[in-house]
Amino acid sequence: MTMLTEKVDTEFLAAAPQCKVVDNMAVGYDNVDVPVLIEHNVLLTNTPDVLTETTADLVWALILATARRIVEGQKTIEADDWKTWSPMFMVGQDVFGATLGIVGAGRIGAAVAQRATGFNMSIIYYNRRPVPALEAQIGATYCQDLDTLLTEADIVVTLVPLTDSTRGMFGAREFALMKPTAPFINAARGPMVKEMELYDALQHGRPWVAGLNVFEQEPIRADHPLLSLPNVIAVPHIGSATVATRTRMATVAATNLVAALTRQAVPNAVNPEVL
Ligand code: GLV
Ligand code: GLV
Repeated sequence: MTMLTEKVDTEFLAAAPQCKVVDNMAVGYDNVDVPVLIEHNVLLTNTPDVLTETTADLVWALILATARRIVEGQKTIEADDWKTWSPMFMVGQDVFGATLGIVGAGRIGAAVAQRATGFNMSIIYYNRRPVPALEAQIGATYCQDLDTLLTEADIVVTLVPLTDSTRGMFGAREFALMKPTAPFINAARGPMVKEMELYDALQHGRPWVAGLNVFEQEPIRADHPLLSLPNVIAVPHIGSATVATRTRMATVAATNLVAALTRQAVPNAVNPEVL
């Protein structure tokens, strides 16, 4: 049973030659080299679905906290820098009625979009292919390309899985396309963002602020340049971190493993072809 902190590759399998199942307690499995597992006839399982709503809640926590400068506000009070009420003190951006741009409209993206209807938002999304259900049920609009989404969104959220084609997907060029008022939220995987280019972009105020749940190197250290910026909110990869959901993930992972080892139908097989 692995966590996303374990890298499962040729070296791993060489050290565990009898391994039959890699039971990843996460929905994402970019820590696992799936072709190598297939080559060695090793089954991979994951824990989808049970964490969808919890992770969407965390994305919303970051949307509201970035747009309304919640962490900066707390730091201001703690530093005793709150001198008086004044008209443009700690002003942020509106969320209600804004246009939400979702990059990656899978299960979590759809759950984030559903919440946005309560905030009367226009929802646009970019995905490998259109998701008709999202358009029919939530009124989301498909963007043919990422550039259009980045240009039109008031708030950008990325939720795509990390693959060779999404690695480094957000860099200087993409940030320059965003509105100078836009929060940028990454709750997927750190390496999708070129972090030093994000650092430079934030210094120039585009995006306006970043809400980051994931990082190129985890754990991120306190002396990381991004953390020196006032317009960054960072949380330690806690998308699915509620008592109920982490308990469900552990239960799903255990169920997957027992099923695989007792040769019963495996609920969440990523590479069922090895069976
Ligand atoms: C967490 O990031 C997961 O993939 O479950
Ligand atoms: C006024 O009371 C305000 O909250 O801005």
